[in-house]
Amino acid sequence: MEINKKYEDLFINVSSRAALASYYFIGKNDKIAADKAAVDTMRTELNKIDMKGNIVIGEGELDEAPMLYIGENLGNNNGPELDIAVDPLEGTNFVAKNLPGALSVIAVAKKSNLFNAPETYMNKISANVNEKNVVDLDFPLKKNIFNLAEYKNKNPKDITVCLLDRPRHKQIIDELGNIGVKLKLITDGDVSGALLVSEDKYKVDLFLGEGGSPEGVLAAAALDAFNCFFQGRFLFKTDLDKERAKLMGINDFNKKYYLEEIVSGDSIFCATGITSGDLVSGIKLDNDIFFSETLITHKSSGLKKIIRKHEKI
Ligand code: FBP
Repeated sequence: MEINKKYEDLFINVSSRAALASYYFIGKNDKIAADKAAVDTMRTELNKIDMKGNIVIGEGELDEAPMLYIGENLGNNNGPELDIAVDPLEGTNFVAKNLPGALSVIAVAKKSNLFNAPETYMNKISANVNEKNVVDLDFPLKKNIFNLAEYKNKNPKDITVCLLDRPRHKQIIDELGNIGVKLKLITDGDVSGALLVSEDKYKVDLFLGEGGSPEGVLAAAALDAFNCFFQGRFLFKTDLDKERAKLMGINDFNKKYYLEEIVSGDSIFCATGITSGDLVSGIKLDNDIFFSETLITHKSSGLKKIIRKHEKI
């Protein structure tokens, strides 16, 4: 079953309004307030939509967050049953510190087609490859680079690898340095990082490393529309993590998930820029008109494009 095309505009409206709400907090050094503004607006907008929506990836669980928690029902109850994954403000530091790359992100799929995941870390890998065994989370790093270089008919030294610049990645970064690839080290924002493999214009061949699991599920939805490769392995580090995972039906804590196990069937993904970044430009205001750019994908209609809109605030 496909998601009706009319929902494309409706979800662009959700992410662009949430982006606008967060825009007012750019450079205010207050990531909590910036996040709250995006969450509140996203929730208000989602509740206007004809759907029986259910949050499967959200802002924490019921006891932790008042809004957009996992399990929350949204929409006006008239319409299709949809699974919803949200990251109303992806890159809280970017907004707080007035840095490039903040996004407001949402992905939806038909009920039971989007992975219901606890908020933890995930080991991830993505590349613009549409077959298995070229790159893999379980391959040695060197094998991934050399396989991908061969697949793309490139010299391994011309392969660009994107990953979060974190101490936990030191060994990988050192090894990549020894192989001689180009690095793109990002300070935050690995939804965008994972998506940079989707088109040649971003000049990134491989994304990998440990980041948020919600961000992994969101990126997988867009990568599916681009026919790209993605794998993720949840990292349940504490007993509490494992307990929460069990409650969501996850019993194998080491399982490596392929994209199709994370998102299946039809899906819509929208990422609107708050501050300008690699994927999209940020919000701009001109009196009472706001300009937004949203990367949208819709799997069944083949839509994969950046939509520029201007609207009254
Ligand atoms: P927030 O927007 O929630 O601050 O997340 C930003 C982010 O960089 C994500 O894109 C990434 O998945 C995660 O944080 C990485 O976590 P950590 O900063 O703990 O390494």
